[in-house]
Amino acid sequence: MPLQASVRIAKCDSQRFFARDVVKNGIIIMSVLRLRGFQIHKSHLDSAAQRALVEALRPVLRAAPLFSPSVPGGGKMSVRMTSAGKFGWFADETGYRYAENHPKGTGWPAIPAPILAIWRDLTGLERQPDSCLLNYYGQDAKMGLHQDKDEADFSFPVVSISLGDDCMFRMGDARRGGKTDAIWLNSGDVGVMGGEARLNYHGLDRIRFGSSRLLPKGGRINLTLRVVT
Ligand code: SIN
Ligand code: MN
Repeated sequence: MPLQASVRIAKCDSQRFFARDVVKNGIIIMSVLRLRGFQIHKSHLDSAAQRALVEALRPVLRAAPLFSPSVPGGGKMSVRMTSAGKFGWFADETGYRYAENHPKGTGWPAIPAPILAIWRDLTGLERQPDSCLLNYYGQDAKMGLHQDKDEADFSFPVVSISLGDDCMFRMGDARRGGKTDAIWLNSGDVGVMGGEARLNYHGLDRIRFGSSRLLPKGGRINLTLRVVT
């Protein structure tokens, strides 16, 4: 007899936290969490899909090696990054923007097909993202609270894919200095930040270095997909 899947609301706390589980034969097979409007598809990618993504990223990293951007006011980001797509996100002493070229002067490689498939699956949009930012977090890397606001049209969501070590992700609302909540994200989780949450402040407190064996040298990769123009 085919097993029936049912949906269970596991916990609900006004605007801050919401969890919906798909349960099959008493076992949770998928959970969607909402943290301050950030929709997290837990374990959206199984381990084979995660390994396939890492393989798909190898040629991207060869064509467009990781770099450490400088930031306005001096200093460098602790995160190393690169991009795929029409535009890459870029920072230097003069500010934050999208660029058509990698700092070495060449265009960015194309966004690998399995990454575009995740975007399509979760957003249902025909329009493809213009940019896939790849952030690499080593042992002590983190990211301060910020809004994603360098894009032209905020009606398009941001899709965020976690690979490798666990990280503590922090989410606030659209006001600087507002209250925040944090959640551990694991390898294979995919988040969608759209609608009311599109301009919410978010950042990364820290990673749990060595918690995953997906990446040979440890650390965490985050892929952020965005429509830019
Ligand atoms: C970002 O907001 O740019 C990255 C978020 C993450 O690494 O999960
Ligand atoms: Mn961001």
